[in-house]
Amino acid sequence: TGNIVVLVSGNGSNLQALIDAATTGEGLGNGRIAAVISSQADAFALERARQADITTQVVEHKQHTDRRQYDQALKHAIDEYQPDLIVLAGFMRILTPEFVMHYMGRLLNIHPSLLPKYPGLNTHQQVLDAGDDTHGCSVHFVTETLDGGPVIAQASLPVEHDDDPEQLKQRVHTLEHLLYPIVVRWFMLGRLQMEGNQALFDGIELPPSGVM
Ligand code: GAR
Repeated sequence: TGNIVVLVSGNGSNLQALIDAATTGEGLGNGRIAAVISSQADAFALERARQADITTQVVEHKQHTDRRQYDQALKHAIDEYQPDLIVLAGFMRILTPEFVMHYMGRLLNIHPSLLPKYPGLNTHQQVLDAGDDTHGCSVHFVTETLDGGPVIAQASLPVEHDDDPEQLKQRVHTLEHLLYPIVVRWFMLGRLQMEGNQALFDGIELPPSGVM
C-alpha cells in the first residue's frame, strides 16, 4: 500500500471526500491516508480525521520564526509517514521552493478555478466580476509557481446570471469532491507523472487544460 499525507487548514470537506472514497468502490487505488496535518489547531478537518481514526498532527505557524523554518518543521512531520503522495486540501499557506522541490512530482493541490485563470484567493468573486459564463476547479502538480504547476484535471460548471460568490463556492465544492478522489486514485495507481512542466497520464502528455 502507498501512504498519503493530507495537509489541511480549515473545514476539510475535500479531506472528507477522500476519506469517503477510500472506503468505497475502487478506493484510492492502493493508497491509504496515513496522516492529516493541519496548519490550524482549530481546523474542523482534524475532527473529520479523528472520526475516521486517522492520525493527526498540528504544525502551527506561531511556533516558527519564518517561512523556511515552518516548512522544515512541516517536512519533518510529513516525512515521518514516508508518504508516496502529499495532498493539499485547503492548505492555505504558501510553500517555499525548497519544500516544493523536496516533494516535486508527488505533491498535488486543488484550486477553485479553471487554471490558469484566477490563481490566488477570491476566485469566485473574480469569476463574477469578469462576467465569465464558466467556472470550476483544477487539480495540479505543485511547483514553485503559486497555483501555476501543470494541470492534471479540471471540472467545470455554468455560472448562472444571479449567482453570488457563496452559491458558486458551494457548487464548485461539489465538483471538487468528485474530482479530487479520482485524481488521487490515478496517482496511487501509478498513472500520473510530472515531467518537466507537464503532467502525463499513462505516459501521454495531458493537454494544458487537463483531461476532464
Ligand atoms: C477548496 O475550495 C479548495 O479548492 C480551496 O480551499 C477550499 C478548501 O475547502 N483551496 C485553495 O484556495 C488553495 N489556494 P475544504 O477545507 O472544505 O476542503
